[in-house]
This record gives sequence, structure tokens and C-alpha cells, in this order.
Amino acid sequence: MNVVCIGGGYVGCVTAVSFAVLGTKTTIVDINEEKINLLNSGKAPIYEPGIEQLIKQTIGNMLFATTEYDCIKEADIIFICVETPTASDGSADLSRVKKAAFEIGRNINKTKFTVIVNKSTVPVGTGDVVFAIIAEASGLKPDKDFAVVSNPEFLREGSALRDVFFPDRIVVGTNNQIAEEIMKKLYEPIVTRKNYSQLSAQYFYLKQYASDKYPIYFSTDVKTAEMIKYTANAFLAVKVSFINEIAMLCEKLGINVLEVAKGIGLDSRIGEKFLEVSPGWQGTCFPKDTSELYLTSKRYNQELTILKAAIDANWAMHRYVVEKIVNFLGCLNGKTIGILGLTFKPDTDDARRTQAQFIIPHLLSLGARIRVFDPQGMEMFKRFNPHLDIVYCNKGEDVAYMADCILLLTHWQEFKSLNWREMYRILKTPYILDARNFLSRSELEEAGFYYHGLGVGKNSGRPGR
Ligand code: UGA
Repeated sequence: MNVVCIGGGYVGCVTAVSFAVLGTKTTIVDINEEKINLLNSGKAPIYEPGIEQLIKQTIGNMLFATTEYDCIKEADIIFICVETPTASDGSADLSRVKKAAFEIGRNINKTKFTVIVNKSTVPVGTGDVVFAIIAEASGLKPDKDFAVVSNPEFLREGSALRDVFFPDRIVVGTNNQIAEEIMKKLYEPIVTRKNYSQLSAQYFYLKQYASDKYPIYFSTDVKTAEMIKYTANAFLAVKVSFINEIAMLCEKLGINVLEVAKGIGLDSRIGEKFLEVSPGWQGTCFPKDTSELYLTSKRYNQELTILKAAIDANWAMHRYVVEKIVNFLGCLNGKTIGILGLTFKPDTDDARRTQAQFIIPHLLSLGARIRVFDPQGMEMFKRFNPHLDIVYCNKGEDVAYMADCILLLTHWQEFKSLNWREMYRILKTPYILDARNFLSRSELEEAGFYYHGLGVGKNSGRPGR
């Protein structure tokens, strides 16, 4: 089988590399020459733990990369993996998906059956739109010559390889029997773990993520698959917003939310995942997908009020972080806040839409001076926020220089081993707000800090040094 992935971004790269590793000849097409050159020289155009190693091992034998669409002619399956960013009205911008569909229509092989797969997150009904564009551009008969399938991705940035090789489920939506058979065949190595032991000897990453649970292959129709994707992200966003609100209440009641989250997570109906308290959720998926789904509900006069509440609670959580600092330090005018973490979560360089992007301007508007550090996300954060008057530091410790508060926004593992004693020495007020409840409170208190978490009950100390 020949696979083509249109789009060499996050989803396209991870998808293509995984099929190549599993022995399917896969080509990435992207109009961005820089990305393609990187791939062809064995480098990753995205930051994702482990991916570069797999690109190096597959490029030129199972994985190929090009800027030319004519490789579509060879394809049995074409994945559309382009971005669907949020348009100005809050809906998903489908222009890249439509352009990809048009190129498929122009280049599709007219002598054989081809499956076109929407992997991009797209609103319900987009399968039909892609269908129509390809039919018009190619002159082919839908269902007889080609089929459009919805196969949403559930990859989390930072653990995408584990998610792709060891998923909980694979959702495939199609109304076409031939397409259904082809998709089943494509996913067979993942569903049955065929050759995994042999592969894991060759590819280190397969081995370290191994899990005993086999994935469920879930067949459904196109629209249902599209809806599953949005509902999954919306549900997870609601779950995080819910525990974040509970955290705020716990704080008032003097209760530790970590214990509460553990206590409810042990109930298998609730589950322990996505109950980590945070300064709110962000990223390239939750905000855009919740926004699109909410707009859809309004459009159909069936408002998703719980989703709306979760979105509002998320903004409240961003504000709560600032309020906590103000409550502790008083007026922020002229005070220095040292921020650790600019990406929306650890193990990614993705700093396109992050908690810091909203919290920093709020702090600046109150007169604070800001120093920041992130292990991977500084360059992208700077690119997306050129207007922010903030100091980018060379190492984590440097954010503490003359600082009145250290604010941890992203729980990068390496922040645990910062030289906190050195930071204590160079700061002004030894106050730390750990907005991920991640650092060791006892160690920091021992080092002389006033430690605050979110929703973890009694906070330590008062300012004044
Ligand atoms: C999310 C979904 O988890 C994936 O299944 C999906 O495929 C992806 O969106 C997508 O649509 O492409 P991702 O955005 O990479 O993945 O990151 P998550 O791990 O879901 O985290 C999203 C946000 O929620 C982050 O800001 C994270 O810090 C926050 N979060 C997550 C919490 O605040 N608490 C938690 O317990 C979990």
C-alpha cells in the first residue's frame, strides 16, 4: 500500500512516520520547502520526543518527503493532515482542507480506487465538502472511484508516538465498504501489534511505550467520527475545567484538591486522567475545538451550556492565577515576576496559544515586569508575541533575578532540578506560585520560599523580606 500525507505539520509528521515504521511506503507532501528539506536530511520539522530518531531511520526507504503533489497519483490512501485554525468568528477555518481536496482532485489516479482520509479536525459535514470538491476537480464518481473517510487523531503533543503506536481506540468513519476494508488493512499492524516485538528491537521508541491493552478498532459513519473527535476534546476540556473550579473551592475550604482528585479518580467511572489542576488549559486543540463545537451548537439552536461554562471557567482560572499573586504581593506596579514555562504543556515547543500568552499581558497591565524561561518554547513564543515587553532569560534560574514572585506555568521535568538555593539568593521576595502543583513544597519551604500551589489547602507564609 502507498500512503500520502498532505501536510508536514504535527499530525502529518507523526502519522506518516508511524506508518513508515510499520512498513507502509508513506510520502509527506508540504508546500513548505524548508520542512521538506529538513525531513529529507533526517531532521524533524516539529518538536516531539523520539520522532527525529524514527525519521532518520525511515527517510529514503519507507518515508519520503516532497513539495510536489504528483505523488498523489501513486497513492492508495491519502491523508489530509493540514491545520484547521480558528477563524475570526470562532469557527474552524477550512481553507487548507479545501485546497488539499482540490489538489487531490487534480492529481488523483483515475484508474484505481483511492481512499481519502480526513485526519485534520474538521466540523461535522466536512467529509461531504471534501467529497464534492474532489468529485468536481477530478470528474470521478464518488463511492465508485474514491471514498472520503473520517479518521480523527487523538494524539497528545509530547506523547504522540505512544498515542499512535499504542492507542486506546482507532475511530474510522466511512459509508463505503471498499474503503472500510482498505482502512482495516492499513491499521492491522497497530490493532494486532503485528511484528511489534521485531520492530521494537529496531525502533527503541516502540519498546519503551509498550502496553498490554490492545486498541479497539471502532467503525462508524463519517459524520459520527467527526463528532466523536470534537466531543472527546470538549469532554476532556470540561473535565479539566471542572477540577480547576473544584480546586478554587478547595482553597477556600482549606482542603487539598490533589487528595480530592485522587479520591474521585479511583472510581473507574470517573478515571484518574485529566484531573491535574492547572492555570487553565490551552494549546492548538482544546481552544479551537471547544469554540467550533460551541458555535455549531448555537447554529443548530441547541446550545451546549456545559461546554460554555467550561470555557468561561477556563478564563476564570487564568485570572485566578493573577489574583493569587495580587493577593499575596499587593500592588504589582514595578514588581518583577519570573515565569517558568511558556508552552501550553511540557515536552513540546508549541507556544502558539498558551496560558502564558494570556497571563503575561494581564500581569503587564498591572504594571509588573516579566522575566521568562522555557526549555523549548521561547523562540516560538517570541515569534507569536512580538509586542510583549518581557525579558527572555538564558536559563531557568535567571528568572529569579530581583523577582518578587516565581510563577511556574508549565511543569517541565527539568524545573524540579533548578538550583533553588541560588534562585533564593538572587530574588527579592521568596514567593513561588506553582500553578501546576508540581514542585516539592517541603524542599522549597526548607530553602526559605513561601510556597503556594493551586487548591492545595493551607498556603505557607506571608511576604516581607
Ligand atoms: C489534545 C487531546 O488530548 C488529544 O487527544 C487530541 O488528539 C489533541 O488535543 C488534538 O485534538 O489534536 P493536546 O492538545 O496535545 O491533546 O494536549 P493535552 O494533553 O490534551 O492538554 C491540553 C491542555 O490541557 C494543556 O494545556 C494541558 O496542560 C491541560 N491539561 C491537561 C490540564 O490542565 N490538566 C490535565 O489533567 C490535563
